Amino acid sequence: MADASKVLHISPVIPVVTIADPQHAVQVARALVEGGVGIIELTLRTDSALESLKRIANEVPDILLGAGTILTPAQAEDAVSAGAQFLVSPGVTPSLLQHMLQLDIPVLPGVASVGEVMAVLEHGLTAMKFFPAGPAGGPEYLAAIGAPIPAVQFCPTGGISLSSAPDYLALPNVACVGGSWLTPRSAIESHDWQHIVKLAQGAAALRLE
Ligand code: 3PG
Repeated sequence: MADASKVLHISPVIPVVTIADPQHAVQVARALVEGGVGIIELTLRTDSALESLKRIANEVPDILLGAGTILTPAQAEDAVSAGAQFLVSPGVTPSLLQHMLQLDIPVLPGVASVGEVMAVLEHGLTAMKFFPAGPAGGPEYLAAIGAPIPAVQFCPTGGISLSSAPDYLALPNVACVGGSWLTPRSAIESHDWQHIVKLAQGAAALRLE
């Protein structure tokens, strides 16, 4: 149940979305769905993030709703109460991982080293976020991890764009990538939902064979 393998196969890109004004949340989620991206990782980086989560949970049932930037057990609990269907953390500590695993929804823990991959694998999770993907070593680093640990599927995130995504998606141990480029702040603030639709369409077209 906690393994997030299925979450990684909804779309070639998991949009990492930060929304300052909850009034924008539903429109952003609908634009992603319209563009063919049926998943969202809404970050808990704003005071109103839980309110945005609730609105999307209530009004956009056809998107798979994740809560990102989970740093503490309390945030994980609040996100689940607000309607999150999966949880994403940028990194893991033993206590945070233990706590998230008790919440009975898929968990995508962040890892950036071989030792961290092994520690998460010990809990039976084979789906992980590789973060921050670019600075931590990029596609070459992921390819090297795949040799000794082929069972783990990654969602690299951090510094990835539409043009660099194919280099990651070509790897056998990458199921999808994550990125914030689908929902630029300028588009959200100017209510340019069609721009987000177009960016989502471009991301959805990054299909894996
Ligand atoms: C995340 O939390 O996953 C990152 O902030 C997303 O990274 P990006 O903005 O470089 O896509």
